[in-house]
Amino acid sequence: MSAGKLTGKTAIVTGGAQGIGGGIARQLAADGAQVLIVDINEEVANANAEHIRAAGGTVSCMLGDVVQEEVANAMVARAVEEYGRLDILVQNAFSGAGGRGSAVDIEPADWRAGLASLVDALYLGARAAIPAIEASGAPVGRPATEVGRIVNISSAHGLMQAAGWMVYEVGKTAVIGLTRQLAVEYGPVGITVNAIAPGHILTENLEKLWAAEGNDKGRRLFELQYPVRRMGKPEDIATAVAFLCAPEASFITGVVLPVDGGHTIQLQENLVMDLKDYIVENPDLRTYFDVPGAGVPRH
Ligand SMILES: NC(=O)c1ccc[n+]([C@@H]2O[C@H](COP(=O)([O-])OP(=O)(O)OC[C@H]3O[C@@H](n4cnc5c(N)ncnc54)[C@H](O)[C@@H]3O)[C@@H](O)[C@H]2O)c1
Repeated sequence: MSAGKLTGKTAIVTGGAQGIGGGIARQLAADGAQVLIVDINEEVANANAEHIRAAGGTVSCMLGDVVQEEVANAMVARAVEEYGRLDILVQNAFSGAGGRGSAVDIEPADWRAGLASLVDALYLGARAAIPAIEASGAPVGRPATEVGRIVNISSAHGLMQAAGWMVYEVGKTAVIGLTRQLAVEYGPVGITVNAIAPGHILTENLEKLWAAEGNDKGRRLFELQYPVRRMGKPEDIATAVAFLCAPEASFITGVVLPVDGGHTIQLQENLVMDLKDYIVENPDLRTYFDVPGAGVPRH
């Protein structure tokens, strides 16, 4: 593979087997980084790694649940042992822990499990990685502004609230606070820390759910709500992560970058007016989000 913007750098991508993280691992490797994928799904991680190697990239996989402190420490040790340094940490893994429901519905144990996965894991990852990134320093011949990069994956759900998603909304909002805190603390040593807030991204898993729903007009309604009139792809997020990790992005830190086709800047009352005719004309609309009883106004 020819030299890219990230040649000589080592990146950890949590949840890098598939979906958004899978795309991020492929992009960082394509840009020249040595990538360590950390995931609970060994088989799918290995398949993504094969794909990366076939394209000329350098990658290895580690099986582990990043909610565990010992896994966070072990992934950093493994990256340093295998590649001699650590430069980039992308914290993307999430498995849906915590479930859905309002404050009254959810059980305290689910709240704790959800926030452990959404927030604690990212704190533990940063805690383990930052000393190793600092110790690695900037690659030879590169300026001190290139010591390191952390990118945390939040969500449009971290910027706006959806009823019935208590754990996810609070967790993804906390990811933004964590990102900003790390940014002010580690900017002085040359580590930038940013968050990305994806809109709806058609991962392998979500593509299957849409296909199972089989309601093309409902899918089209979902796309129409986006100013760009489409849902996102893992590559849309991956290229944004690669940009934030590149040398040119050294003056960008503590930001939340929405990568959402304009979804979160759109005035919703106009959107409803724009789409109401489509809804009236297509009374059988369904999306895979449809759950009996969900969405019924409380008042
Ligand atoms: N897909 C979307 O529309 C969307 C939108 C906004 C934000 N996000 C966020 O993007 C991230 C990735 O989502 P996705 O849709 O690509 O998910 P996905 O389910 O397609 O992939 C997640 C990957 O993470 C792994 N994983 C899950 N929990 C883990 C853990 N504790 N330790 C290690 N690996 C673990 C899974 O095995 C899987 O390979 C998540 O943080 C999610 O909240 C997704």
